[in-house]
Amino acid sequence: MSENRTIRIGLLGFGVVGQGVWKNIEVNRSTLKKRLGVDLTITDVVVKNLERERAIQVPPEMLSSDPARVVDNSEVDIVCELMGGTTEALHFTRRALEQGKIVVTANKALICEHGEELFNIAQASGGHYLYEASVAGGIPIIKMIREGFIANRFRLIFGILNGTSNYILTRMEREGLSFEETLGDARSLGYVEADEALDLDGIDAAHKAIILAYLAHGKWVKLDSIICEGIRSITGDDITTAGALGYKIKLLAVIDRDFEANELSVRLHPAFISKSEVIAGVDEVYNGVSVSGDVVGTAVLIGKGAGQDATASSVISDLADAVAILQGANKLNTQEQKNCADQKRTECLELTSIDAHSGCYYLRVHVKDEEGVLSKVSDLLAKQHISLATVNQKQLKDGTALIMLTTRLSNERAITSAKSSLSSQGAVLSEPVSFRIFDPS
Ligand SMILES: NC(=O)c1ccc[n+]([C@@H]2O[C@H](COP(=O)([O-])OP(=O)(O)OC[C@H]3O[C@@H](n4cnc5c(N)ncnc54)[C@H](OP(=O)(O)O)[C@@H]3O)[C@@H](O)[C@H]2O)c1
Repeated sequence: MSENRTIRIGLLGFGVVGQGVWKNIEVNRSTLKKRLGVDLTITDVVVKNLERERAIQVPPEMLSSDPARVVDNSEVDIVCELMGGTTEALHFTRRALEQGKIVVTANKALICEHGEELFNIAQASGGHYLYEASVAGGIPIIKMIREGFIANRFRLIFGILNGTSNYILTRMEREGLSFEETLGDARSLGYVEADEALDLDGIDAAHKAIILAYLAHGKWVKLDSIICEGIRSITGDDITTAGALGYKIKLLAVIDRDFEANELSVRLHPAFISKSEVIAGVDEVYNGVSVSGDVVGTAVLIGKGAGQDATASSVISDLADAVAILQGANKLNTQEQKNCADQKRTECLELTSIDAHSGCYYLRVHVKDEEGVLSKVSDLLAKQHISLATVNQKQLKDGTALIMLTTRLSNERAITSAKSSLSSQGAVLSEPVSFRIFDPS
């Protein structure tokens, strides 16, 4: 391919990320040209509403509301799907990949739900599906796992993959605000997705964990087969108790591989994590991912997990890889496409059952403040073979109390069953809340 060639990019979607890609290609046009040896030119922009006012004015002849104008256009070298959703995005991604095209995306929900099919189509047609921006925004975690850490088998990958929930937890901790107060601020700053469950119930971060699990271990895991719990049940009392015990509470994605048992555990939940862990210090809207490989040891990447510029940085990184593919460098016989070809190896990899998780736990029980209630709670836990590591009690003004406990090594089954027995006690006023205590060692 000639050094002076222009690479033509069609954008499907011109919202936050699409405009970020346009803006940052313009800002660094000459640097990108020097580095890539080609000129990146956006030739077509597809939106839903042609009348919408946008920060960036697109010449009318480039603007359309018809994705086929990009997807079926032989003049377009790279299709950039930044429209989101899993219906039209699926249809047009499929159609582009079937034609052997290169598709760059930031759409984690689509990959999580349909990645297996889409990577298989790309493998069969000679197309490529690149998705750096789909996990942890500006952190190049996909490239790190696929290329930088290729020498490794991954025992443990864990981290913070949702900036909005991390922002809420950070403000609750620093300012002693309630979840509702902080959520109000997060909403007014535009941090919360229109579908709030994506951020608050952990679904967005779980999508990203599933993508990382596939990339690292070649196994597609279904969202409904993993633990996926959000941050709505965390209170200021939980955060204060965690702090006094040397922990922070973070919404963690955990991808844990047991090579001996050939099992994989993928989960997403709030967890107590020791303040001494680097990931515990990742605050506000930042994301952080800790990768433990058998060759490299542990490496931690921290950066902005979302936002216009950080996400555009990752999309443009994929555009650069797409240029390399167009220039004939086949270094991007990408790991996920190799995974497709290597499915037999991973078919026998079992997903650890949710019940089998073991570890230490934190438990908060809201009780009537009456004599003997603490011993009733501890007797009931003892019946489930749960032994206690710490006990804190807080009297509330309304004549009730909170008992906040941490346990020694226990397991999911025992904790679930203890919570259910506690709930049926007259002195227990609401369903007990538990969080796992995460220990990466
Ligand atoms: N925002 C972030 O920080 C971030 C970070 C990482 C990943 N992502 C992912 O990036 C993708 C885009 O996110 P975003 O925040 O840029 O979304 P957005 O601001 O809502 O923009 C979506 C764009 O797609 C267009 N669109 C939607 N449906 C369409 C259709 N059927 N046909 C044509 N155009 C259509 C919209 O057109 P109109 O403008 O006319 O409505 C809009 O321009 C999503 O998959 C998201 O999960 C976002």
